[in-house]
Amino acid sequence: MPLVTTKEMFEKSMKEHFAIGAFNVNNMEIIQGIVDAAAQQNSPVILQASSSAIKYARIGYLRKMVEAALEEHDIPVALHLDHGPDFETCKMCIDNGFTSVMIDGSKYDFEENIALTKKVVDYAHSKGVVVEAELGKLAGIEDDVNVDAADAMYTDPEQAREFVERTGCDSLAIAIGTSHGAYKFKGEAKLRFDILAQVKEKLPNTPIVLHGASTVIPELVEMCNQYGGDIPGAKGVPDEILHEASLKGVSKINVDTDLRLAMTAAIRKVFAEEPSKFDPRAYMTPAREQIKETVSHKIKDVFGSTNKA
Ligand code: G3H
Ligand code: 13P
Ligand code: ZN
Repeated sequence: MPLVTTKEMFEKSMKEHFAIGAFNVNNMEIIQGIVDAAAQQNSPVILQASSSAIKYARIGYLRKMVEAALEEHDIPVALHLDHGPDFETCKMCIDNGFTSVMIDGSKYDFEENIALTKKVVDYAHSKGVVVEAELGKLAGIEDDVNVDAADAMYTDPEQAREFVERTGCDSLAIAIGTSHGAYKFKGEAKLRFDILAQVKEKLPNTPIVLHGASTVIPELVEMCNQYGGDIPGAKGVPDEILHEASLKGVSKINVDTDLRLAMTAAIRKVFAEEPSKFDPRAYMTPAREQIKETVSHKIKDVFGSTNKA
C-alpha cells in the first residue's frame, strides 16, 4: 500500500473511539521496529520525523526507508513532519513525499499563528497533503507554576474553534497538561480532560492531537539505570490516562521519549552484559526488538488501534 494521509485513519478513530500512535523516527531500526509492530497488530500508524531528525538522517534516506517498509507490509502508514518550525521546512517535506505536515506556530501570538498555519494549509492542500497545527503551550506544568500562569498555557476551547475555522487545518494539537521529554510531572500525573471535552464540543469533527504523550515506561527507565544510565526521577503520562484520552476524542498520540528509552535500555544491556561484543548488529537487533515490543504494547493495550487498519 502506498503512503496515505491521516484523513481516513482519523475519521475512523473519531467514529470508533481509538487513537493512532505517531512515533518519531530517526533511523532504520526505529522505522522497522514500529512498522513491524503495527503490521503485526494490523493497525494504522503515523511515522513522524522532526526537522532535527531530518537533518540527522537526511530526507531522502527517511523517505526511502519508509517506502521500503511499505513494500513489506499492507497497513495504512502516513509520513508526517513533526513540529515544522516554518513554511520552508513544511514545503520541503511536502515536495519530498510526506503526506502530512505539522506547522508549529504555538510560539507565536494567535494572529501570527493563524497567518502562518493558513499559508502552510494553502500550499499543502494544493498538493493533497494534510496539516496539523498547534494552539496552546506545551511547557511542563510544574507544581510551583501558579494557577493563572498554568491556565494561560492550556488551549482555550473557543480560540481553538476560531483557529480551525480560519486556518482550515486538518487536525489540532492542544495543550492539556502534557509536556515533551522524560520529566513531565513533579507530583501526580494529571491531564485537563475538562478542556479536552470543551474542545471536542466546539470541534466535534476535528481530530485532536496529544503531544508529549510518552509514558516514560518505568521498566525502561529502570533498565537504563541498571545498566549504567543516569535518569533519576523521570515521569510520564500513565497508560490508563492515555487510554482514557483515546476514548475521549484524542485521535493522535505522539511518542518519542519512550522509543529513545527502549533503544537505549536495550543497547546498554548488551554493552554491560557482553562487553566483548562490538558488532553493531549485536546491540541493534535487541534495540529494534525493544522498539517493536514497546510499540506493540501501546497499540494493543493503550491506544486501541489493533485491527483498525
Ligand atoms: O517533540 C519533539 C520530538 O521529541 C522530536 O525531538 O527534535 O530532538 O528530534 P527532536
Ligand atoms: P514525548 O517526549 O512525550 O515522547 O513526546 C513526543 C512528541 O510530542 C513528539 O512531537
Ligand atoms: Zn511534540
